[in-house]
Amino acid sequence: MKNFVTLDDISNDQIMALIKEAVHYKQTGTAPDFAGFYISNLFYENSTRTKLSFEMAEKKSGMQVIHFDVETSSVKKGETLYDTVRTLESIGVQAVVVRHGQERYYDELIGHVGIPVISGGDGCGDHPSQSLLDLVTIYEEFGTFEGLKVVIAGDILHSRVAHSNAKIMKRLGAELFFATPAYWQDASLREGEFVHLDDVIETADVVMLLRIQNERHAKSYNQDNFLDVYGLSKEREAKMKTEAIIMHPAPINRDVEIDGDLIESEKSRIFPQMNNGVYARMAILNYALKGE
Ligand code: CP
Repeated sequence: MKNFVTLDDISNDQIMALIKEAVHYKQTGTAPDFAGFYISNLFYENSTRTKLSFEMAEKKSGMQVIHFDVETSSVKKGETLYDTVRTLESIGVQAVVVRHGQERYYDELIGHVGIPVISGGDGCGDHPSQSLLDLVTIYEEFGTFEGLKVVIAGDILHSRVAHSNAKIMKRLGAELFFATPAYWQDASLREGEFVHLDDVIETADVVMLLRIQNERHAKSYNQDNFLDVYGLSKEREAKMKTEAIIMHPAPINRDVEIDGDLIESEKSRIFPQMNNGVYARMAILNYALKGE
């Protein structure tokens, strides 16, 4: 069994195999078989999509999901992440899915606990399962990543989705652009060019919006005119190529980073992304948990 906490240590060939495996589960209505396997989902940060689509993937794969709620657990008595995971391991849980606000939280687990760790996101670091479902969505649409123009727009600095996607999409051959106000630029992102959304809206194949992560920073922007100045307004959407698509990991600040009317528009793949999340997570579970 293996950990799954970043895509950085997974080869391009293996990533492509995971994408195709997810598409296979979707097209055939099948799932991996993990009947009798015990897993627990530990979400130290709030989640709807990641937590529940992992749970859906786990249950469709026949797993027993041991319920864990941070708010009612001994985490509230000060128990550490390590002690919590060791406790679950001791009572028979065979793998954990963890989301935690601390970047690289998994460093205190990997090599120290005896069960695999699958990440549901680490602080502003990585969100590998979101990246995989985004890749599945783009692959379904275009059949390749080579030469695709992808613009990632919004709160780049605080987005683990931006960090994960920039790395893997560049590796797979996409041309990347980042559209964000100066105060959310991230100098560590070297996979693409910082632009204004207006500079690339007419040529982009994928326009990926990000949520403004109010919980990670003091409000330092004018939310009232963000959509007009930086967001995907109807005027900008009208300039997109016919075959271009709109993505957003969600949850969405409606009418802030994207006009609310565009969320379920013809070009939007936002809800299909969520659907793909279940199949992508089945592939992740199979990758991490199947016997060598
Ligand atoms: N996209 C995403 O990670 O959503 P949740 O925070 O609801 O899991």
